[in-house]
Amino acid sequence: AVVVGRRVRSRRKWKRVVGVLKELEESCETTVGRLRQVVDAMAVEMHAGLASEGGSKLKMLLTFVDNLPSGSEKGTCYALDLGGTNFRVLRVELGGQRSSILDQDVVRQPIPQQLMTGSSEDLFDFIASSLQQFDENAIDFEKSSIRKELGFTFSFPVKQTSVSSGILIKWTKGFAIKDMVGEEVAGALQHALDRKGLNMRVAVLVNDTVGTLALGHYHDADTVAAVIIGTGTNACYWERTDAIIKCQGLLTTSGGMVVNMEWGNFWSSHLPRTSYDIELDAESPNSNDQGFEKMISGMYLGDIVRRVILKMSQESDIFGPVSPSLSMPFSLRTPLMAVMHEDDSPELTEVARILKNVLEIPDVPLKARKLVVKVCDVVTRRAARLAAAGIVGILKKIGRDGSSGITGGRSRSDIKMRRTVVAIEGSLYTQYTMFREYLHEALHEILGEDIAQHVILKVTEDGSGVGAALLAASHSSKSVDNIQ
Ligand code: GLC
Repeated sequence: AVVVGRRVRSRRKWKRVVGVLKELEESCETTVGRLRQVVDAMAVEMHAGLASEGGSKLKMLLTFVDNLPSGSEKGTCYALDLGGTNFRVLRVELGGQRSSILDQDVVRQPIPQQLMTGSSEDLFDFIASSLQQFDENAIDFEKSSIRKELGFTFSFPVKQTSVSSGILIKWTKGFAIKDMVGEEVAGALQHALDRKGLNMRVAVLVNDTVGTLALGHYHDADTVAAVIIGTGTNACYWERTDAIIKCQGLLTTSGGMVVNMEWGNFWSSHLPRTSYDIELDAESPNSNDQGFEKMISGMYLGDIVRRVILKMSQESDIFGPVSPSLSMPFSLRTPLMAVMHEDDSPELTEVARILKNVLEIPDVPLKARKLVVKVCDVVTRRAARLAAAGIVGILKKIGRDGSSGITGGRSRSDIKMRRTVVAIEGSLYTQYTMFREYLHEALHEILGEDIAQHVILKVTEDGSGVGAALLAASHSSKSVDNIQ
C-alpha cells in the first residue's frame, strides 16, 4: 500500500510539472496567423514612429547615413565597437574597389563588469587605452601628423544630431552609466582620445545595425536592411526621406536615409507573453522597456528558461530541493541554454552536466532532463519566430513582402519580386543552429515559398565594426571624393 501511495504521489507531481510545460507551450504559441498579426503591427508601428516624435514605442531614429559605402573607399580606417558583451577594436585597409578589403585586424575583449555601471570617464578612458594598445605602432599613432579617421559603433539608442554626433537616450542590455544619459557620445570618446594624445577623429557615430547594413551593402548592393540578434536585438533599413514625415524638409542627395528602428522596444498586444516574461520585466532595471528584446535576445532567453525550471522545481521535487542557484537571476546564460537544447547524446549528458555544475541540481532523471530540453525549445522557437515576423514587418513597410499587387488582381506567384537581401549578425543567429533554423522556417511560413525564395539573409562578419570603418572612410574629412 505504501509503494502504491508513493507511485500515485509521484505521478501527480509529474503531472504538475507537465502542466507547467503545457501552459508554457500554450502561452508561447506562434501560429502563422499570430505571426502575421505581429508583422502587421510592426509595419503599423514603423509608420507611427516615422510620423511623429514619440508616435510609437518604435523610435525610428535618424542616422544621417544617407549614402552607403559604394566600394570606392580607400585607405586605412579604424573602428571601435561597443555595445554587447565584448568590445572590439578594428583596423581595415580598403583597396578602392567593391569588396576589396585588403586587410583586417580585430581584437575583442570582454568589458569589465564594473565599467558597465561606473562613470563615463572610466569607460571612455578604458576604450581609448585599448585603442592605444591595439596598434603596435602606437608611438607612430600618437606622433603621426596625419589624423586617423575612426568609426565609432555605439549600440544603444542615440538621438543623432549629425552623422558624427548624438545624444544617448537611454541604456539597454544591462549598461547603466548614469552620467552618460543625455550626453553627447562621440564628444565623450573624442575627449578621451585627446586626453591620451591619440591623433584620431571620430568621423562617424553609428549603431551596430547601421555598420552591419553598410558592410552588407558594400558586398551586395541589394541589401536593404540589417538585423542584429545577439545580446540585444535591433534592425535598421533604408528609408525614403519623404516617408520620414516627422522630419519634413529633410533633404539628402540620395533621397533616402538609414533609419535605426530600435525594434527591441517594439510592443504589441499580439506578442505571446507569459508570466515569466512579466516577472523578468518587472525585476529588470528597465521595466516596460525593450519588450521585444526581452523575448528574443541572448541577454534574456537563458533567464526565461531558468524561471520555468524554477517553477517546475517549486511545483514538485523532480529536481530535488529547490536549488539556490536556480533562484539567482541570470545564473543560466543563453550560450549554455543553447548547449542543453542542442545536446544530441542519448543520455543528455550535457544537460546533466550544466544542471549540476551551473544550476547546482545534481542527479536529475533522464525524463526531467528531456523536459528541460523541451523548455529550451519552446523559448527559442518563440524568439526565432518573432524575429522572423519582425523582419517581414520591415519587408512589408518597404513593399518587399509580395503583398502589394494582390489587390490588383494578381496572385502572389505572378508578382515579380526583386531580390532582397537582409544583412544579419549576432551570436544567437550565427551560433545557435536551432534558433537559425526556426527563424528561416517561420520566414518561409509567413512569406510563402514564392516570395521567400527572393529574400536572402546574409551573415556579415564583424559588420558592425567593419561597416563603421567603411563609413568612416566615406565620411573622411580628407577624401571628399570617396563620398558617393
Ligand atoms: C539594443 C540596443 C540597440 C542595439 C541592439 C543590438 O537593443 O538598444 O541600439 O542595436 O541592442 O546590439
